Amino acid sequence: MKLIRWATVVLVMPLMGMAIVSSPSRAASSPAQDAAVTYKAKCAACHGAKAEKSFDPAKADADLLVAVLNGVKPKMPGFERSLGADTCKALLTQMRDLRK
Ligand code: HEC
Repeated sequence: MKLIRWATVVLVMPLMGMAIVSSPSRAASSPAQDAAVTYKAKCAACHGAKAEKSFDPAKADADLLVAVLNGVKPKMPGFERSLGADTCKALLTQMRDLRK
């Protein structure tokens, strides 16, 4: 009987672990993937799928971040309130990655 209990523990526990690690909801919510999804939803319409429009990656991070946070008159809306500063930073990284 003891042997059977051990067999259950040894076989079932790793399976449960695998189920947790490979569950799609976890994989889908990595910060980089979130930024890619948010970029497509909120930014790509104006900046293009490859961040090729109205974006100059040669500019300093600080200046570009201010643009995302506060907006640039007249067309670029600010996103600090709706998305939060961390997401704005991640979106900037995403735009730089798209232009590499
Ligand atoms: C309604 C159109 C529109 C949307 C939506 C938009 N932008 Fe912009 N954005 C612009 C325009 C136009 C400029 C250029 C402003 C200028 O230089 O006068 C700009 C400028 C910027 C800049 C500064 C670029 C530079 O080279 O100075 C960054 C960074 C930026 N946007 C990021 C974003 C991000 C991130 C999002 C999504 C959260 C976003 N934008 C959504 C229109 C938009």
